[in-house]
Amino acid sequence: MAKYLVTGAAGFIGSSLVRALLARGDQVRGVDNFSTGKRENLTEVRDKMDFREADLLDLEAMHSACQGVDYILHQAAIPSVPKSIVDPLGSNGANVDGTVNLLVAARNAKVRRVVYAASSSAYGDTPTLPKHEAMPTSPISPYAVAKLASELYMTSFYRCYGLETVSLRYFNIFGPRQDPSSPYSGVLAKFSMQMLRGEQPTIFGDGETSRDFTFIDNAVSANLLACAAPAAECAGRVFNCATGRRVTLNQTFEALKKLTGHPGLVKYEPERGGDIKHSLADITLAQKHLGYKVLVNFEEGLRRTVDWYKTQAQPAGMQP
Ligand code: UD1
Repeated sequence: MAKYLVTGAAGFIGSSLVRALLARGDQVRGVDNFSTGKRENLTEVRDKMDFREADLLDLEAMHSACQGVDYILHQAAIPSVPKSIVDPLGSNGANVDGTVNLLVAARNAKVRRVVYAASSSAYGDTPTLPKHEAMPTSPISPYAVAKLASELYMTSFYRCYGLETVSLRYFNIFGPRQDPSSPYSGVLAKFSMQMLRGEQPTIFGDGETSRDFTFIDNAVSANLLACAAPAAECAGRVFNCATGRRVTLNQTFEALKKLTGHPGLVKYEPERGGDIKHSLADITLAQKHLGYKVLVNFEEGLRRTVDWYKTQAQPAGMQP
C-alpha cells in the first residue's frame, strides 16, 4: 500500500484522484487552501484520508505534507486562462512558486515520484494539429506560461536532483464535480448547468473553436499509470493527456441540447482574450510509454457529466 499526497485535493480533479486512490486501498494525504477547491468535494471521503488545509506557498506546511509520502499528484493551481489575464501575479504565485515549494519539499523528503497537472495551453495557437510533445511550445496567456514554467521545473528537478517527475499535459478535462458557478469555470461545466436550468449559454467566437475535451476518468487513469510506469519510460518527461479527438463548441451545444432538453438558444459574443482556436492531442507517446488508453469517450463522458449535474441542478435564479 503506497502513500500518496494529492495537492488541490478538494478540487475537481484532485478529489476524483482521492476517490480513485482510496477505492483501491491506497493511503491518501491531501492538501488544499480552498481558493478554488470546495469542502463538499471531499464530504464522504474526508474521514478516510489525512486532509490538511494548507497553501503551497507555505514551505513549512509542504515539508510536513511530504513526510513519508511515496507519490505526489500535484493538481493544486488557479486553473483559468482569463483569471490569469486579470491577475498574472496571483497566477504565477499559485501556479509557479507553489510548484517550486512543493518540489523542494518533495526532494528533501525523498518522495519517489511527482506527477504534475501540466496544460495543453503550453502549445498555444500553433496551427499544427494534432499537438505532439516534441513541438515547440508557444504559450499565450500568463496561465499557460505559468503551467509551462512549472513543467520545466519538474524536468529540472529530475535532471538536477534525480527526483522522478512526470508532467501530464491535460486537454480540457471535464466531468462530475467540476465547478460550474464561476465566470472562470470550464465551458462544459458552465453549459451543462446553464442548460439544465433553461438558461441561455454564451459561446465566445463563432462556435467553431474546438477542444480535445477529456473525461475525468481518463485523466485519473493517466495519473495512476504515470506513477506505476518504469522510470526509464517516463521520468523527467512530458505526456499529453487527452482523447485524440476534437469537438467544436457548436457541436457541444447541440449534444447538450439533447442531454438536457434545452429549448436551444445560444448567444454569440466576441472571442475571449488569450483563447486559442483549436486544440487536439496526439496521444501516441502516453499510449506507448504509460500504457494509456481512452477509457471513456466524449459522448459517454458528457452523458455522465449531465447526469451528475442533474443531481445538483437548482431552479433558475438560485445558486447551486
Ligand atoms: C485552457 C486549457 C486547458 C486548461 C484550462 C484551465 C487550452 C487549449 N486549454 O482551457 O488545458 O485546463 O485552460 O482553465 O488552452 N467558452 C465559451 N463560453 C463560456 C466559457 C468558455 O464559449 O461560457 C469558450 C472559451 O472562450 C474557449 C472554450 O470555450 O474558447 C474553452 O474554454 P474553457 O473551458 O475555459 O477552457 P480553455 O481556456 O480552453
